[in-house]
Amino acid sequence: MNDSSKQGLFITVEGVDGAGKSTAMAWLAEQIAAQRTTVLTREPGGTPLGDRLRELLLHEAMDLETETLLMFAARREHIAQVIAPALARGEVVISDRFTDATFAYQGGGRGVGFEKIAQLERWVQGELQPDFTLLFDVPLEVARARICQRAEQTQGSLDKFEQESFAFFQRTRDAYLQRAEQAPQRMAVIDSTRPLDEVKAQIRAALVARPQLQLATIE
Ligand code: TYD
Repeated sequence: MNDSSKQGLFITVEGVDGAGKSTAMAWLAEQIAAQRTTVLTREPGGTPLGDRLRELLLHEAMDLETETLLMFAARREHIAQVIAPALARGEVVISDRFTDATFAYQGGGRGVGFEKIAQLERWVQGELQPDFTLLFDVPLEVARARICQRAEQTQGSLDKFEQESFAFFQRTRDAYLQRAEQAPQRMAVIDSTRPLDEVKAQIRAALVARPQLQLATIE
């Protein structure tokens, strides 16, 4: 935590589509909410304007740099309206995706230069960085199967990202794993092929290994 005005705790949850982050994230949020005031939010989105941008981002074809800029536009609004005020109040913010997703999807997946993304990151976030990030990781075969199964069960259609190729997701996953390797203190990789109880145990262990987060042991 670099910004001295920030007193809360900023947690982000990441992974390729189909990595199975939702259930574990809901559990984690419940556990933490029992200890501290917790704001559960998501990207792209998290604000009324961000949700409108999300609609465009998930369903409209656009230039890859436009996509990157809109992700950061939504993020700026999210930080200004939701994340920064909650952290200033000393609350815990848990965001379903944040800037690691831009490095992974737009950078790794689409091929936007990492340095360009880093410039936008500095501009939009200043010193704000997550204190802790869970990266849910599964082999792509598992992730793809989960997405197709979910679409069948809900009779829903796949969004623009979910329709991307195997190679796109391979690059996205690789970029996520590379970021985790570069920031092992901040990012914990969770093997989400395991049953939920084991996934929970991995999350618990990751939190125990980071006493600086000052979260009491979760059940
Ligand atoms: P997701 O969070 O997976 O929502 P749902 O669980 O409802 O499908 O969908 C958001 C999509 O947006 C996901 O495919 C990843 C993508 N995304 C990016 O490409 N870049 C970003 O910076 C963010 C935050 C998300």
